[in-house]
Amino acid sequence: MKNYFIELENCINLKRLEELRISVLGKKGELAKEFANMKNLEPSQRKDVAKELNKIKQEFAKKLEEKRLELEEKAVEDGMLNEKIDISLINGKLELGGYHPVVETMNRIIDYFQKMNFSVEEGRMVEDDFHNFEALNLPKHHPARDMQDTFYFADHHLLRTHTSPVQIRTMEREKPPIRMIAPGTVFRRDFDLTHTPMFHQVEGLVIENGKKVSFANLKFILQDFLHHMFGEVEVRFRPSFFPFTEPSAEVDISCVFCEGDGCRVCSHTGWLEVLGCGMVDENVLKAVQYEDVSGYAFGLGVERFAMLIHRIPDLRSLFEGDLRLLEQFQR
Ligand code: PHE
Repeated sequence: MKNYFIELENCINLKRLEELRISVLGKKGELAKEFANMKNLEPSQRKDVAKELNKIKQEFAKKLEEKRLELEEKAVEDGMLNEKIDISLINGKLELGGYHPVVETMNRIIDYFQKMNFSVEEGRMVEDDFHNFEALNLPKHHPARDMQDTFYFADHHLLRTHTSPVQIRTMEREKPPIRMIAPGTVFRRDFDLTHTPMFHQVEGLVIENGKKVSFANLKFILQDFLHHMFGEVEVRFRPSFFPFTEPSAEVDISCVFCEGDGCRVCSHTGWLEVLGCGMVDENVLKAVQYEDVSGYAFGLGVERFAMLIHRIPDLRSLFEGDLRLLEQFQR
């Protein structure tokens, strides 16, 4: 037995340990043999020998368990050492990736508004009718719902058609003053040169108590923002309609391709439409039980910004994953 104890002490792997366990403690193992041999002993001796054997058995089992723990721990450590990757071992040229133009543009937009002290809100992509339409002054059967071809689920839920429901969710959750943007993915049933079923918007909302917020505030921030994004372009506000703002406007910049002379991209008008905006409609404020406040909202399409900034002619190419396009955005 002494040899087995020495071997156990020196054992260096779990496989050998198991072999050792079987040859000592197993059914046909060394100790079993010793127990069997007891029948050849004088009955008077048996008790003492059995006691001794049991003691050895217990001690061996205990040492074995200790060794097993030790070896298991060592196996984990060895495993980690073997799997370690030496990240300093880079040989040759390192190719840097780049941001997808939509992400890059989104980040630039977020960056501007964060510096202007806007918070960034998230909302959800699967919305209900109330937040996507009803609370935004688009009751059922309102003709303006046709402006947005919607993907519906069976249970009155839908894929949000714009980021405006985040306005509602934020106003439900918080009290004025509010100063937020909501960047995010939106969905519409549309597919052609300038439309994809999935695209991205950034929404903006500012609400203050009393009559503090005016159209002039809206005009200032959007003008400044558009100069930040497009450089020295001209900006014009054109009266328009959105159910959730009153008065509403669409915002154009002078065409970045022809600088206002007129070309195919701007349909020879010299202007490109880039934003929708307006003062938050009374009915929207009512839907979230806001009283005696004033505010403005705006919304923009990120893909359109990316296309104008990078002169990308076909919107769909942004989502084809073609490396020839993406490689142009490597850093
Ligand atoms: N939600 C509008 C759209 O998707 C954009 C918008 C937002 C217009 C906020 C005005 C105010 O077209």
